[in-house]
Amino acid sequence: MSAASSLHAHATVDSPPPLWSAEADPLALFQRLFADAKAREPFDATAVALATCDRHARPSVRMVLLKGLDGESFVFFTNYGSRKARELDENPCAALCFFWPTLGVQVRVEGHVERESAAASDAYFASRPRGSQLAAWASQQSAPLDARKALLAGYDAQCTRFGDGPIPRPEFWGGFRLRPTQIEFWATQPFRMHDRLLYVNTGQGWQTTRLYP
Ligand SMILES: Cc1cc2nc3c(=O)[nH]c(=O)nc-3n(C[C@H](O)[C@H](O)[C@H](O)COP(=O)(O)O)c2cc1C
Repeated sequence: MSAASSLHAHATVDSPPPLWSAEADPLALFQRLFADAKAREPFDATAVALATCDRHARPSVRMVLLKGLDGESFVFFTNYGSRKARELDENPCAALCFFWPTLGVQVRVEGHVERESAAASDAYFASRPRGSQLAAWASQQSAPLDARKALLAGYDAQCTRFGDGPIPRPEFWGGFRLRPTQIEFWATQPFRMHDRLLYVNTGQGWQTTRLYP
C-alpha cells in the first residue's frame, strides 16, 4: 500500500478526530480535554508553559501550574515581584501552551492578563500546605540569592514568626487571570497530518477556523 493510500485508509485523516467535534465554546472543549488529561497524564496535567514579554517585546517563558479555570479565564499563582509578574505588569499580554502526550494534544491560549482578586488569592493561598505558605513568605522569587542557606534561614525565620498560628497571604503573592482572545487545539494525526482548530474571540462570540498542520 502506498503512503498516500494508507493515509486514506486511516479514517481520522478525512474526518475530524474523535477528540473534539468543533464545540461552539472552546473553554468547554478545554475543560473536557483537561479532565481527560488529569485522569491520564502520569505527571501533572496542570503544568503549562507561560510566555510573557517585557516592555521591549522581548519574550520569556517558564512553567507554571494552572490552578483555576472557569467559563472565561485561566488562573495561575506566583510572586508579584517575580520576573513574570513584572513583565505582566508592563505588558499584560500572555500566552499559555499545554502539551498532554497521553492525548496527543497541544492547546495554545493567548490573551490579556490581570491580577486575580485579593479574595480569590486569599482563598487559594489558604488551601495550600503550610510549608508552601511559609515558602511563599521566604522567597523573593527571581531576585538574586547569595547562598541557599540564606533561603533556608529565611524559611526558618518564617516558621518562628508564625509559630502554630494562621499564615496570611503575603501581599506580594497572588494570582493572575488570563482571559483568552484565541485558543488553538492541535491533535496529533498519522504522518504529521495533524488537526488544528483555532477559536478567535470576535467580541460577538467565537469564530472557528481549521488550520493546515
Ligand atoms: C512544572 C513546574 C511548575 C511550576 N509552577 C509554578 C507556579 O505555579 N508558579 C510559579 O511562580 N512558579 C512555578 N514554577 C517555577 C517557574 O517555572 C519559574 O522558575 C519561576 O516562577 C520564576 O520565573 P520568572 O523568573 O520568570 O518569574 C514551576 C516550575 C515547574 C517546572
